[in-house]
Amino acid sequence: MSTRQTDGTNLGFVTLVSVVAAIGGLLFGYDTAVISGAIVFMQQKFHLGPGMQGWAVSCLMIGAIVGAGCAGVLSDRFGRKKMLVIAGILFALGSIGSALPATISQFVIARIIGGVGIGISSTLVPLYIAEIAPAKHRGSLVSLNQLAVVIGISTIYFVNMWVANLGTLAWDISSAWRWMFGLGVVPGCIFIFLLLFVPESPRWLEKQGMGDRALRVLARINGTNRAEAELSEIRSTLQSESGHIGLLFKPGFRVALLVGIVLAILQQVTGINAIMYYAPEIFKQTGAGTNASLIETVITGADNLVFTLVSLWLIDRVGRKVLLLIGSAVMTISLAVVGYAFHTGQTAGPLVLVFILLFVAAFAVSFGPIVWLVMAEIFPTRIRGRATAIASVALWAADYAVSQSFPVLLNSVGATSTFWTFGILSLVAFVFTLALVPETKGKSLEEIERSWGSKSLRSAAK
Ligand code: GLC
Repeated sequence: MSTRQTDGTNLGFVTLVSVVAAIGGLLFGYDTAVISGAIVFMQQKFHLGPGMQGWAVSCLMIGAIVGAGCAGVLSDRFGRKKMLVIAGILFALGSIGSALPATISQFVIARIIGGVGIGISSTLVPLYIAEIAPAKHRGSLVSLNQLAVVIGISTIYFVNMWVANLGTLAWDISSAWRWMFGLGVVPGCIFIFLLLFVPESPRWLEKQGMGDRALRVLARINGTNRAEAELSEIRSTLQSESGHIGLLFKPGFRVALLVGIVLAILQQVTGINAIMYYAPEIFKQTGAGTNASLIETVITGADNLVFTLVSLWLIDRVGRKVLLLIGSAVMTISLAVVGYAFHTGQTAGPLVLVFILLFVAAFAVSFGPIVWLVMAEIFPTRIRGRATAIASVALWAADYAVSQSFPVLLNSVGATSTFWTFGILSLVAFVFTLALVPETKGKSLEEIERSWGSKSLRSAAK
C-alpha cells in the first residue's frame, strides 16, 4: 500500500523515520522520571542524607546540560544521525551503570553519562525531525518527540505505583531500583539499532556538499517532482548564509535567539517539573494517603498523554502561536487557583487535583511540545545545531534550578507563594508569546529563515 499523498509526500515513510527518532524522547522521559520511584529504595540501600539525595536526583541534569552543549557543534560537524547513535550508546551505558553500582559515587557517574546522552538526544531529535519533515506536517511529526517523552514519564508513574503495591504485599523488592534503571537498556538498544535504517538529514547533507544524497532523501520523502525544487531552495538559502555562529547576532536572528532561549526558560520556570517530579508529595500535602497520591500521579500522567495527543492534532491546523497563548492563559488561571486553594486551606476537596490536571493539560497542548518544536525550526540551517543547543542548555539549566529549588521553596515560602510565582511566570509567558513569537505553521524552514531577515524586535511577532 502506498502512503504517498496527492502532493507526492510519502507520509508513511517520514512518519516511520520520525517515530524511530522519537524513541530518543522516550529515553528522555523515562530517565528523568525513573529516579522518583527509585530514590526511596536507594535511600535505604546507601543511607543518603538530604544533600546526597538531591545530588543523586539532579546529576542527570548536569549531564544533560553538558550533552546539550556539545550536541550543537558536534551535530553541525558530524551529522545528526551519528550523534543520535552516540546519544543512544551513552544512554544504554548509563542505564547499565546506574543499575549495578556498589557505591553512590559510581551511581552518580553512570547517571551523568546517561544524562549526556539525554542532553544530546533532547536537542537533536526535534531538530532532526524538523529537517526531514515536510512543512505541512512538521508540527505534529516533531511533537512525536514530546509524545514519547510523556509516554516515558507516564510509564514510570505506573511502574512506581505497581512497585509500591508489591511492597505492601511484603515481597522483597529492595533491589527493584536496579531493575528500574537497568530496563532502560532495552529501549536504548532498540533506538541504536533502528537508527541505522533512517536517512541522514537532507539539509545537513546539502550543507556538507553532498547534494546527490540530499536529493535522494528528499525524493523519498517528498516525491521526485518536488525534491528538485526543495533542494534548490535549501541550496540558495545556504548560499546566502555564513556558517559562523556570529550570524546569530545579526539583527533578525538576534530576535530568533532571544525567542529560543526565553521560550526554553519559560517552559521550565512555569513549574511543569515541580509537578512531574514531585506530584506524589504535592498530593500528600492535600491530605491524600500514599496510595491515593500515587493513583493521582498516574492520572496526571494520563492527562499529560491525552492532551499531548490533542496538541499533535491541533498544532499544524491551529498553529503554534495560538496554542501557546491559550495554553499559557489557562496555565496562569490554574496556578492562581491552586495557590488560592492552599492559601485558604481548601485542599481537602478535589480543587487542587482538578486545577493541577487543568494546568498539565494546558501545558501539554502548548509549552510542552511547541517549545521544543520552535527551538528546532526558527534558526538558520548552517548554525541550527549550535543555536538550538544554546536554547537547550538554557532549558536544562532552568529545569535544574526549578527542580532543586521547589522542595526548598515549599518549606520556606510555602505552597501558595510557590504556585503564584509559577502563575506570574505563566502570565509572562503569555505576554512574551504575544509580543515576540512568530507563527511558523506551514512554512518551510527556508521561509522561516528568510522571514527573520532584518526583523527588529518591534516587528518580530508579525
Ligand atoms: C517537556 C519538558 C520536560 C517535561 C515534559 C513534561 O518535554 O521539556 O522537562 O518533563 O515536557 O511533559
